[in-house]
Amino acid sequence: MLVSAKDMLTKAKAGKYAVGQFNINNLEWTKAILLTAQELKSPVILGVSEGAGKYMTGYKTVSAMVSAMIDELKITVPVALHLDHGTFEGCLKCIDAGFSSIMFDGSHYPIEENIEKTKELVKICAEKNMSLEAEVGSIGGEEDGVVGAGECADPEECKMISDLGVTMLAAGIGNIHGKYPENWAGLSFETLDAVQKLTGDMPLVLHGGTGIPEDMIKKAISLGVAKINVNTECQLSFAEATRKYIEEGKDLQGKGFDPRKLLAPGVDAIKATVKEKMELFGSVGKAE
Ligand code: 13P
Repeated sequence: MLVSAKDMLTKAKAGKYAVGQFNINNLEWTKAILLTAQELKSPVILGVSEGAGKYMTGYKTVSAMVSAMIDELKITVPVALHLDHGTFEGCLKCIDAGFSSIMFDGSHYPIEENIEKTKELVKICAEKNMSLEAEVGSIGGEEDGVVGAGECADPEECKMISDLGVTMLAAGIGNIHGKYPENWAGLSFETLDAVQKLTGDMPLVLHGGTGIPEDMIKKAISLGVAKINVNTECQLSFAEATRKYIEEGKDLQGKGFDPRKLLAPGVDAIKATVKEKMELFGSVGKAE
């Protein structure tokens, strides 16, 4: 059964570790992430961008697939199915489709409008026992074709949004999606510290988890980050393993092209990436 992310993140914030959000794109990715979480006894959040939702033919398909997979694979660790960077309309669709968690990304709106829209969703999510992530200060880089500049959130605005009763808060602290450029200035721990001081127990979310050095990840967790999003690193490891397999020419031999065999090395690569991140974030064994 899918669960809201509230419980797992409250425990993570109190226990000074973070739960990973790993984005899914298809059945193979979903299976790889769920099996790894179960093997490591770790809670997990499956992220679905609006683009990935469309690719998988719609949120209802995603929700049905994930729920059925949890059942058939006998997954017992807590799993939240979460819309990543949702529009207001996307959030409503996911609520309808049976997701257990949503992110409303109102960071590009003026703060008053972000507050108004977030408030409406807080109400619906409370009724449905769903978790809600809000964002202040846009995360840089490219997400589904939308490019944002890396920003540092205003801690006062973070407090305003946090006080609305959201479950978790993504505050921009210089992080960006995708690979970090050579001249990246690093995370702004000053901003993170100020946000955490004003928002207290609120679990903070770190987007752009790919390529952040380990010491920065650990420091971010010590300053209140309880959820870390990873997408690009799974994509890269999947692509690299698949490329290697094709170059070796194995899929062209014997019985010819077999999609299950072709995708298997990529699936193993995703499993290894997810394992590495769960160990780094400290979530292994937390679902025992
Ligand atoms: P990366 O693609 O940089 O890992 O970021 C993922 C993310 O933050 C999804 O919201």
